[in-house]
Amino acid sequence: MTALSTSQNIFLRLSILLGMAAAVVTVLYLTPLPDQNIKSCDRPCHELDWPMICRYKLNIEMYQTNKHICENCRRNSSGSSSQCTNIFCQLTEDSNPRSIITANRQIPGPSIQVCQNDILIVDVINKVPGKSVTLHWRGQPNHEAPFMDGVPMVTQCPIASHTVFQYKFRASHAGTHFYHAFTDTDRSNGLFGALVVRKADKIEPHRKLYDLDLKEHLIILSEWSDPSTSKTLLINGKAPSERGSALSLFTVQPGKRYRFRTAFVNSESGCPVTLTIDQHLMRVIALDGNPIVPYESNSLTISKGERVDFVLKANRMKGAFYLTARSTCSESDLNGLAVVNYKNSDRNIEIKSIKDTTKLTRDFDTSLCPSKLGSVCLQDVKSLEKMPEELRESEVDRKIYLDIDFRDPRRNLNEHDGLASDLRSKIYRINNLTFVYPSSPLLTQPMDVPSTLICNELMVPEACRASDICECVHLETIPLGQSVEVILIDQTGDAKGHTFHFHGYHFYIVASRQFNRVMTRDEIKQLDEENRLVKRNLNNPARKDTVTIPKFGVVILRFSANNPGLWMFRDENPQGWTKGLDVVFEVGERHEMVATPSNFPSCGNYIGPEFFLL
Ligand SMILES: *[C@@H]1O[C@H](CO)[C@@H](O)[C@H](O)[C@H]1NC(C)=O
Ligand SMILES: *[C@@H]1O[C@H](CO)[C@@H](O)[C@H](O)[C@H]1NC(C)=O
Repeated sequence: MTALSTSQNIFLRLSILLGMAAAVVTVLYLTPLPDQNIKSCDRPCHELDWPMICRYKLNIEMYQTNKHICENCRRNSSGSSSQCTNIFCQLTEDSNPRSIITANRQIPGPSIQVCQNDILIVDVINKVPGKSVTLHWRGQPNHEAPFMDGVPMVTQCPIASHTVFQYKFRASHAGTHFYHAFTDTDRSNGLFGALVVRKADKIEPHRKLYDLDLKEHLIILSEWSDPSTSKTLLINGKAPSERGSALSLFTVQPGKRYRFRTAFVNSESGCPVTLTIDQHLMRVIALDGNPIVPYESNSLTISKGERVDFVLKANRMKGAFYLTARSTCSESDLNGLAVVNYKNSDRNIEIKSIKDTTKLTRDFDTSLCPSKLGSVCLQDVKSLEKMPEELRESEVDRKIYLDIDFRDPRRNLNEHDGLASDLRSKIYRINNLTFVYPSSPLLTQPMDVPSTLICNELMVPEACRASDICECVHLETIPLGQSVEVILIDQTGDAKGHTFHFHGYHFYIVASRQFNRVMTRDEIKQLDEENRLVKRNLNNPARKDTVTIPKFGVVILRFSANNPGLWMFRDENPQGWTKGLDVVFEVGERHEMVATPSNFPSCGNYIGPEFFLL
């Protein structure tokens, strides 16, 4: 070997190496990055597939509805443009402009459809000047990222104007869910959309009950109000209109069974809605994403915040049938309309408005209604699977009583008749505490929240001792891993009851009972000790994340405190931010909670420079 051949050898090796490196770089360069090639995660779900990373961009914008946008649509009878089919044109014809807030200029916002355990990365771009927002991902426990729950001043700072907040979480809880602006006003003004999480066919417990689970068979119900027109109920952002604009259309084929996914996303009235489909039965199979023992019914009554999945058997040969949604409250006559259309049927033919020809007469009601013949109420519903072992014991580790009442400062007495005082004069309380939001996000900036703001039964702030109205951040702490029973007692006597939504968890509704007068906690405790209150279903009660406490009702919930974090137990009808009926559950010690990323946005004060003063 000469010196020359050695250097030639090295040169040769080096070139080969460089060549290979260049090839690798080229291959890497040509391989699209995940966020470039993944447009949608909507796909058939398979149990052996890896979870996908699903990226979405939601541009939050505020508008005035405008008649002129729709003028072209009206001239054009085909009305095929997307602008013609949505709320802009449905409702602005006869009404005054009103302001709306949208995600990607749609009502409902884009529907997000993924497979269980996919990772969602959602860039929320707040383009509303002078207004901050957050989005809550209802139904998702956010186990790995409690700071992604979207509760302003509890899990994050609200997203300021013209900033981007990236929600990143795993869609771990399968079922029909939705996302929505945390504040009720923004939600009423249009900021919501579907979040459907599917299981692989092999592990979907009700898969044998239907043939097709199509992404377009989604029924998003929302109330819509306008200063000049009466209120109406939208189905997928559409409403019946005198000028005959198109209704939502659900296409089916004769003989096939379809899974329909329903969500009642927004309601100002707080009235439940009853859904019927002319000449068809609905077979209810899941509540808030949790499978139940199926019930066949003619109609379906659903409350704000709830989701119901049902199977529709297309047992006609052809035709078009009305899908009707009607408010159940006597004082509001909200109506929504859509059409179930058999494929190849002429949709312009007169829709048959014949009511039921099917024999069954049963309403499926997601509330704890007084049992009556011909209806299935929530207390009758059975989960498909049993409760976990630790919740089936007769005793739990922790019992939390929540007494819901109000004070009327004008009369300085508790009014239980619910007649004389209107809402504005009521100061609502849970365990004598009226919830207010903390001054900094409790989860991510705990050091910035003055401890004097925090309260619970054992820790009543000094300032409250002399008064029966106490405004503070109601926080109940639960050690990680405990089995918990929450006993809610309605002492307000409000006719519509109170609906609550639990963040981070799905609970079991083990028992409920309605009284015809105010029951004190002591009376309830006594009855319970004597086993005369109510028999708990400790086997397979319904599981949900949203529940309504009926007037003068007692509702008993159970859950395993296995998701550390700070979770809202939220009043669904807060009339704004809160009317005082919220509670935050702090599960686990701080060190047991997933650490907040170090660069997580924080909020704080600005106090001007001092140099002028020196
Ligand atoms: C009607 O719709 C067609 C197709 O979408 C479009 O080309 C046409 O310009 C529309 N007409 C009007 C008056 O907007
Ligand atoms: C609320 O206040 C009343 C009257 O001060 C008291 O009797 C009751 O025990 C309090 N309730 C709770 C849950 O602390």
